[in-house]
Amino acid sequence: MRTMELSGVVLVLALALAPSSVALENGLARTPPMGWMSWERFRCNVDCQADPRNCISEQLFFEMADKLAEDGWRDLGYKYINIDDCWSAKQRDATGRLVPDPKRFPRGIKALADYVHARGLKLGIYGDLGIFTCGGYPGTMLEHVKLDAQTFAEWGVDMLKLDGCYSTAEEQAKGYPEMARALNATGRPIVYSCSWPAYQGGLPPKVNYTILAEICNLWRNYDDIQDSWGSVLSIVDWFFTNQDVLQPAAGPGHWNDPDMLIIGNFGLSYEESRSQMALWTVMAAPLLMSTDLRTISPSAKEILQNRLMIQINQDPLGIQGRRIVKEKSHIEVFVRPLSQAASALVFFSRRTDMPFRYTTSLANLHFPKDTVYEVQDVYAGKIIGALKTANNFSLVINPSGVVMWYLRPMALPVQPGYVRQQAPGEGFHPILL
Ligand code: GLA
Repeated sequence: MRTMELSGVVLVLALALAPSSVALENGLARTPPMGWMSWERFRCNVDCQADPRNCISEQLFFEMADKLAEDGWRDLGYKYINIDDCWSAKQRDATGRLVPDPKRFPRGIKALADYVHARGLKLGIYGDLGIFTCGGYPGTMLEHVKLDAQTFAEWGVDMLKLDGCYSTAEEQAKGYPEMARALNATGRPIVYSCSWPAYQGGLPPKVNYTILAEICNLWRNYDDIQDSWGSVLSIVDWFFTNQDVLQPAAGPGHWNDPDMLIIGNFGLSYEESRSQMALWTVMAAPLLMSTDLRTISPSAKEILQNRLMIQINQDPLGIQGRRIVKEKSHIEVFVRPLSQAASALVFFSRRTDMPFRYTTSLANLHFPKDTVYEVQDVYAGKIIGALKTANNFSLVINPSGVVMWYLRPMALPVQPGYVRQQAPGEGFHPILL
């Protein structure tokens, strides 16, 4: 959400004239939210008899909460544990309230929130502005907006994803701002994730990103991610093709959401997993993992727990990156400006033949003249050394893979808290020409 830069008088006037576009300045999500979300990996599996370990039940969330707290995730910033669709009973109760499925959530959502909070985590929940959720559970019609916001707040929920299945464009235009006001009115800080733009094609004139930034902390712009590299690529293509619209829309408190991280699942190779993480970080995307933290491989965990990567994703300036080069050789270069005049560079190969040697210079990539940068390889963890803007360098990018750099001007002192990781990284030989 954009900070109001209006004087008091103008603000009062603006509020009086435009009661439906009141900014929800809730002070939340100043950096992209991080955590875990059930949907991509666990979907709407409600058969707890046949599949007790993987069905949508309180047990699944208790177990993932334990993992988030015990395996280092929470301490790196992965704080939200988000229930997606299919958690509720098929009917509202006699008082019109949403209730969790009594068999699968016998202790109720409040008890789950307490459990999660006791472990220093936060709880997210899912609703849908419409007759039904996308999975066919009770939706939040316009007349339910206030009651559902209150219910979520009473349960101790910290984040709401409000989906848009089974509603019209008109209902969405009314309902999404109304939920923002209803959440605000509860007095409980609740991060608000809106699927509104995804239902309206994600682009102007149907989507107004200025209004969205005043209403929602994050928003889904585009299609659902699936467990495949093709799905990741289609999302990357759409977001960077439309970067002129999307990039300026993001900032502290209001983020584009290209959907969950599928690292740790079945569809991505090691290189592709590293690419998803790097590209999501360059996009200043929320880092919402959807994978089984009980069985995740050490290599997937290492990608998701890369400290310098997370530091870049969570950079306080909150500037979304852009694609700046698309080579005929199918190499693409992305840059994200960071605080302290630092930057992140991602060199991405769409090639499918063999590792490719790419040569360029920071001058080619529009970096300021006559500057010397300390370059650190984000995945290898190694500080490569000093690089002048004018110098050519070469690096080798694997098929469907990335090389990611963190660059810091050497004239500036190292900031406290700056992650300088020196991994063993055997066999890493950067080539500086
Ligand atoms: C939509 C959303 C998904 C997920 C499902 C649940 O498709 O975009 O992220 O929440 O609904 O049914």
